[in-house]
Amino acid sequence: MRKAVYPGSFDPITNGHVYIAERSAALFDELVVAVLFNTQKQGTFNIEERKAMAREALIHIPNVHVSSFEGLLVDFMRQERSRIIIRGLRALSDFEYEFQLAQMNRQLAPEIETFFIVTEAQYSYLSSRSVKEVFHFGGSIQGMVPPGVYRRLRERFPPPGLDMR
Ligand code: PNS
Repeated sequence: MRKAVYPGSFDPITNGHVYIAERSAALFDELVVAVLFNTQKQGTFNIEERKAMAREALIHIPNVHVSSFEGLLVDFMRQERSRIIIRGLRALSDFEYEFQLAQMNRQLAPEIETFFIVTEAQYSYLSSRSVKEVFHFGGSIQGMVPPGVYRRLRERFPPPGLDMR
């Protein structure tokens, strides 16, 4: 049984994340999408909203389940009995941060390996932060986020003039 963990903030999940989850779920028996619960950082959506959006977006992949963790990723890995961390790579600019993360995790838990999956070109510019910003200023985010995320963004940031009461 090969179990991998795909950790992240997923605030919210984007189509780029969905793509990485699809690719990795095809390679492993089980994939746990692990949403970081950061008590120091509030974020846009709370942990339950992020998990709900991720579950909805990944429902078509049978060997995926969505969970959350607090504290160190390596502790969660050990708790889940998984030795494979999945991270997506978009551009060279991701590399430095990802390299640091992978090295730190290796230092903390040498038995754990980080696997990188290169994203599809069409998602190479996507991030949760940029999607929120574009949406916030009225730009189109069509094709960038799953429908459930779009719906929640509209609820959270109603377009001017739209009465949501
Ligand atoms: O989607 P993100 O924000 O790039 O994901 C980053 C994440 C959640 C993978 C990373 O911040 C993390 O693993 N945090 C948990 C704390 C931890 O284990 N830190 C040690 C490595 S620096």
